[in-house]
Amino acid sequence: MMESNSKYVVIPLHHRRDLITDCCKLLNSEWPRSETARMKSLNVSCDNFPTCLILINDENKVLGHCKISLVAKSKVSCFIESVVIDYRCRSQGLGSRLLRGVEEYVAKRGLKNIYLRTDGQEVFYYKNGYKLCDPFKAYGINDIITVSSPLSRIKFREQNGDQSARQPPPPPPPMPSFQLSKFFDMRMSSQKTHMMKKL
Ligand SMILES: CC(C)(COP(=O)(O)OP(=O)(O)OC[C@H]1O[C@@H](n2cnc3c(N)ncnc32)[C@H](O)[C@@H]1OP(=O)(O)O)[C@@H](O)C(=O)NCCC(=O)NCCS
Repeated sequence: MMESNSKYVVIPLHHRRDLITDCCKLLNSEWPRSETARMKSLNVSCDNFPTCLILINDENKVLGHCKISLVAKSKVSCFIESVVIDYRCRSQGLGSRLLRGVEEYVAKRGLKNIYLRTDGQEVFYYKNGYKLCDPFKAYGINDIITVSSPLSRIKFREQNGDQSARQPPPPPPPMPSFQLSKFFDMRMSSQKTHMMKKL
């Protein structure tokens, strides 16, 4: 259990730019990535979303992180990603404390729903009030369709009269680099559980 709630606060990262490097280290300890790319994505944090929230203790140590983005074309929904607690401090309630901070933060901004995707932390989110939901469109493009398995995509095409459905698909055209991260996210989403919480 957590020692004392007042020992920890959840604040926007861009209000404490001096802690960006520590936050970068925390994220890279879980999901190793080039420091330059990581710093670039953390530096976009702002009051109008995307917003990175950090959980810090009374010694200004960064112990947790969560990125909040608006769901495209929605004024009431956001999605969270890169939720992480320092591996040395897990199972003490800090992840739940971070989620409470995230929920308070978005509720104050008039948002009503929080969505997320996970592949392994379903119980943690379930215990924090998140429920299974249908796949959501994070970016407002066709990312939702990628949650279908290849087999169900073939079935869908056959049912819709596409005779070439069982042919191997042609290689995808080269994509502009700005779309690459979305593409990988979309591919990964086929293995992820979608969850949401109404505030
Ligand atoms: C997922 C993660 C953020 C959780 O952080 P945490 O600080 O360990 O979370 P908590 O201590 O609040 O909760 C974790 C434990 O309490 C349980 N729990 C959480 N909230 C609970 C509640 N309200 N009531 C009862 N149990 C609860 C969880 O099931 C879990 O069980 P455990 O004791 O077997 O570990 C952390 O494990 C982590 O950083 N994991 C690696 C990154 C990752 O997978 N992120 C999720 C991406 S979707």
